[in-house]
Amino acid sequence: MDPESVRAGSRVPHGGTTDPTVLDFSANTNPERPDDVEAVYREAFDAATRYPDDDYADFRAAAGDYVGCVPEAVVPTAGGLEALRLAFEVTLSPGDTALVPEPSFGEYDREIRLQGAEPVAVAHDELLDADPAGHAVAVVCTPNNPTGELASASDLRAFAARCREADTVLVVDEAFLDFTDEPSLAGTSGVVVARSLTKMFGLPGIRAGFAVAVGDLGDRLALDARGRRRRALHAGRGVRLAHPSARHRRTRATPRDAV
Ligand SMILES: Cc1ncc(COP(=O)(O)O)c(C=O)c1O
Repeated sequence: MDPESVRAGSRVPHGGTTDPTVLDFSANTNPERPDDVEAVYREAFDAATRYPDDDYADFRAAAGDYVGCVPEAVVPTAGGLEALRLAFEVTLSPGDTALVPEPSFGEYDREIRLQGAEPVAVAHDELLDADPAGHAVAVVCTPNNPTGELASASDLRAFAARCREADTVLVVDEAFLDFTDEPSLAGTSGVVVARSLTKMFGLPGIRAGFAVAVGDLGDRLALDARGRRRRALHAGRGVRLAHPSARHRRTRATPRDAV
C-alpha cells in the first residue's frame, strides 16, 4: 500500500445506512440465511480462547467445491472487499493503471488509489472489448452492480486470454454471481476471482468471503493473507458452501417468478 495515497483516501458510502431508526430499502442481500450459521458461530465462540489455525482447510475445501476449483487456490477473506484489497495489493504498484467499469461498485476506485495506482474508467458495457495492454489490472464485475448486466463465461474467458497475452491481471468480482446460472471463472490462469458470502448467504455483518487464484498469483495472494487470522465462519466446518441448497434455488427462482 502506498503511504501517500492512504493519506488522501476517503470512505466510499455503501452497504446501506447504520441508522437503526431508518427503514433501508437499498439492501441487496438475500433475506434468508443458511440454517447452520448459528451453530458455526457458537463453535467459533467456544474455540475463541485460542488462535485459529490459519490454514482454514475445511473452509477452503468447501469454497473450492462450491466454485469448482482446487482448495489450494482459495484464500479466505473478511468479505468480498478484502478479497479485492488482496488482489490489488499483490498486483498494483504506484504509477500503475487499472481498467474499471463505470458505473460500478465504488470501492474499486478507492482500493486502486490506495495502492498508488490510477483507475481508468471504461463504460460498463464496453469493458470486455477494451484493450488491456499497458494496464496492470482490469476489473470486471459480473453481474455488474448497479447495472446488473451479466458477462457470459465464454466472453469472460476470451477477455481473460487477451489479458494474459497483455500481462494484465484480470480481477473478476463475482459478489452477485450466485444469483445467476453462470459458472465461476475461479481457477482460470491470470485471474483473481473475488467472492462474497454477503449477498446470497444474507450475511453482510459476518464479513466473510474468499479470493481465488492459481499459480504464482495464487501463491502471492496466500502469502499476503497469511497471518490475518479470522475465526468466525472459517473455523471448524465453516458455513456449508459445498452444494447449492434448496434455499439457493428458491432465491434464484423468486425474482423470475415475480416477473
Ligand atoms: C459488487 C460488489 N462487490 C463486492 C462487495 C463487497 O462485498 P462484502 O460485503 O462481502 O465485502 C459489494 C458490496 O456491496 C459489491 O456490491
